[in-house]
Amino acid sequence: MSAPSQDVLDRIDRQRERHLDELKEYLRIPSISTDPQYKPEVLRAAGHLRDTMRAAGLDSELVDSPTGGNPMVYGEWLGAPGKPTVLFYGHYDVQPVDPIEEWRNPPFEPTLEGKDLVARGATDDKGQSFAQLKGVEAVLAERGALPVNVKFLVEGEEESGGESIEAYVRQDGGDRLACDCVVISDTSMYAPGQPAMIYGLKGLAYMEIRVQGPNRDLHSGTFGGGVQNPLNALAHILSSLQDPKTGRILIDGFYDKVQPLEDWERKAFAELPFDEEEQRAELGVPALFGEQGFTYRERTWARPTCDVNGMWGGYQGEGAKTVLPARAGAKVSMRLVPDQDPQEIARLFRQHVERVTPAGVSVEVFTVHGAIPTRITTEGPAMDAAQQAMQAEWGKQPVMMREGGSIPIVATFAAVLEKPVLMMGFGLPDDRLHSPNEKFNVDCYHGGIRTVARFLDLLAGG
Ligand code: BES
Ligand code: MN
Ligand code: MN
Repeated sequence: MSAPSQDVLDRIDRQRERHLDELKEYLRIPSISTDPQYKPEVLRAAGHLRDTMRAAGLDSELVDSPTGGNPMVYGEWLGAPGKPTVLFYGHYDVQPVDPIEEWRNPPFEPTLEGKDLVARGATDDKGQSFAQLKGVEAVLAERGALPVNVKFLVEGEEESGGESIEAYVRQDGGDRLACDCVVISDTSMYAPGQPAMIYGLKGLAYMEIRVQGPNRDLHSGTFGGGVQNPLNALAHILSSLQDPKTGRILIDGFYDKVQPLEDWERKAFAELPFDEEEQRAELGVPALFGEQGFTYRERTWARPTCDVNGMWGGYQGEGAKTVLPARAGAKVSMRLVPDQDPQEIARLFRQHVERVTPAGVSVEVFTVHGAIPTRITTEGPAMDAAQQAMQAEWGKQPVMMREGGSIPIVATFAAVLEKPVLMMGFGLPDDRLHSPNEKFNVDCYHGGIRTVARFLDLLAGG
C-alpha cells in the first residue's frame, strides 16, 4: 500500500532540480543583518521571499517592523476551516562571512561540492526555512488544497537580536498568528540519518565591556608603572569570570536559578551514541574542557556558560610597539539555561565587573542583546505528527535532545501563543553554521521538503 502522502512525495522527487535551483537563487542574496551596509540586500531578500510565497499559492506580504528594523515576511493559506493551523517560522537573514579568505568559493555563489550545497545561509536558515515552504508548495500544487491551514512568519533579524519580531508577536501576534502549533526548522539532526527534535534551547546574555585608562596611548617605559594599564585591567576582569580548574563561573548568584539536570535526562543523554575522544580529535584540541562533574553533552546542552567572544586594545601589528594603551574592550556571552533570566544575569555580570575592576581605570558595561532559555513540552498531537513524519522519512525514531544555541523568539512564541513549538531541524552537526564554507546537504534539503509534506497530512489526521 502506498503512503498517504505518496502523490506529493513523487512530485517532490520529480522537482528536485527545480527546488535546488530556487534555493540557490535565494542564497545569492547577501542578507547579512548584523551589518547596516547590507540593508538593501536584506530588503531584497524579504521581497524575493514574499514573491516566492505568492508563486507557491500563499497570500503573502511584508510586515513592517514595529521597531524600525527589518521587515518580516508573512504568508498564509487558510482554506481548511475546522482543521489545525500550523505556524512555520524561519529567518531570511544570515551571518557575516568573515574570515572571507577561508571560503573555498565566494559565500554568495552557492556551489555544489558533492552532496553539499556550500553558501552562507545554506543551512542557517535559508535552506531549512525554504524546505518548509517547498513542502507546502508541493502539496498545494499537487492537490490544489492543503489538508491543514498554514501561516509563515520569516524574520530578518534573528542573527542580530530579533527585536522586530519580538515586538510584533507581543503586539498583535496573538490574533494574526493564532495557531495550533509552531514549527521551526533551524536546528540540526543528531547525525546523518538520525533525526532529532529539540526540546530545549539555551538563552543568552551578550555583554560588552569597555575599559578606559589615560586620555591617549602612552610610552610604556616613560609612563609604565605609573598608571593602570587598561589591557592589564581587562585581563584581570576576564580571568575572574571562570575558575580555570573546575570550569565554574564565578559571578555571584550566577547558578541560583539554574534548574538541575533531571535524572532521566542525564540517563537519556548518556545513552545517545557519542564519543568524547572522537569529538576532541575532530575539534583538534589537546583536551575537552568544561564544568567539573558534567559530561560534554550535559555541559553543552544543559549547563550555563560564559565565553569571551572577542577582545581588543593596544598594538596588534607586526613586531613590538612599546605602548600603554588608552583603552581596551571585550565582548562576552553567557549562554543560559532555565530558569536563568537574561536581565538578571546581565545585572549580576555588571556588579561582578564593577567589583573586580582594579583602581586607576574606569569601566562601562553594556548589554548587547539577550534571549530567554526554553524547555518545551514534548507531548501532544502536533508533536506526535512531527515525530511520525520524521520517522517515516528517515526510517528512524527522532531522538529528543537539547541544544546549546539560541533562537530568541521561541520563548516568546511559547509565552504569547501558548501552543507547542516543534523544533524539527534538517541540518547536520557538521554544517559549519556561522563558519566559513557553511553547507546544507542536498539530501537533507530534499528529505526536509518531504518531511514537511508528510507532517501536514499526519497533522490533518491522514
Ligand atoms: N539557528 C541558530 C541556532 C542554532 C545553533 C540551532 C546551533 C541549532 C544549532 C540561530 O540562527 C543562531 O545562530 N542563534 C544565535 C542567536 C543570537 C544571535 C541571539 C546564537 O545562538 O548565537
Ligand atoms: Mn538560525
Ligand atoms: Mn545563526
